[in-house]
Amino acid sequence: MNIDSINNVVRKTGVTESSQIKNELFFYNEIAHNFSKLVPKLIFTDEEKSILEIENLSENYVFIEQKRGFNHRESYRTISTYMEIQEKVKGSKIKLSSSKISNWPLNQPRSLIINEIETWISSYTFPSIKNKEIVALFKIFFEQSSKIYDELEMNSMGIIHGDFRCDNIALPKNNGKPKIIDWESFGKGSILIDLTVFLLQSVNIEYQDRVKKTIIKSFCKYFINTNYDDVERLLHLASPLISIYLIRFQRTKDKEDLYFVIEKRMTYFYERNLEKIKAALLK
Ligand SMILES: Nc1ncnc2c1ncn2[C@@H]1O[C@H](COP(=O)(O)OP(=O)(O)O)[C@@H](O)[C@H]1O
Ligand SMILES: [Mg+2]
Repeated sequence: MNIDSINNVVRKTGVTESSQIKNELFFYNEIAHNFSKLVPKLIFTDEEKSILEIENLSENYVFIEQKRGFNHRESYRTISTYMEIQEKVKGSKIKLSSSKISNWPLNQPRSLIINEIETWISSYTFPSIKNKEIVALFKIFFEQSSKIYDELEMNSMGIIHGDFRCDNIALPKNNGKPKIIDWESFGKGSILIDLTVFLLQSVNIEYQDRVKKTIIKSFCKYFINTNYDDVERLLHLASPLISIYLIRFQRTKDKEDLYFVIEKRMTYFYERNLEKIKAALLK
């Protein structure tokens, strides 16, 4: 994917065969108008040439470095925007059952992902996760993974961003709402996938506990039939899935910094929530 800034416009161009740019074009053409103000304005698309032009946010918005991570206020505002998008999905004509909206993650059938991850994890040693109990949790996760997917989807279906982290969240310099960019991995699935990715990847550890509470409370407001403990349990069920996903799909050489940050935050999360995660997985 190529990104150019031309005056007030950002132009993204992709390889025509790539499904990612197609997915993002679909998002902007068919879905984004439901959330105007929460995503960049669409300027122009050319599906044949795989060109997407959107409003340039550089002047009035900032992107926070992954390494610094979001504080509580930035997280709170981001989660509010995210939940507002989910509200708009509920109130719109968007059909989550439509086959045009792909299943998260990565447009692949769930069983493929599970198989791939299983193969991969058996050869990985978690260099910075010294705590054997944490590694043991991943094993429990695999025994239960199909059931866990079902439970997450049954209780928290929505529009998934698929790469919900600092680089893709534009924070307003003044008042106003954050805008979410980079919808190339969007799909349908459990919104706890995005929220847990965000928590483990983009929140500075100083604020992790508080942001976890904020996520759960916002979720309860949206899915009114849930209560705090249930949602906390679901979030803990999602966390091994997310950790595996983050390590597996973001472990590339040019992202060493990012990898370090993710693993540090993940380890912190596991150490603080170990007993609760274990209880959620074993239930
Ligand atoms: N509409 C926009 N306004 C301002 N900056 C943008 C915009 N879209 C993208 N960017 C900048 O370009 C970066 C990469 O764009 P993104 O859409 O996330 O593509 P990628 O798939 O390469 O991550 C973003 O992290 C952001 O810094
Ligand atoms: Mg991006």
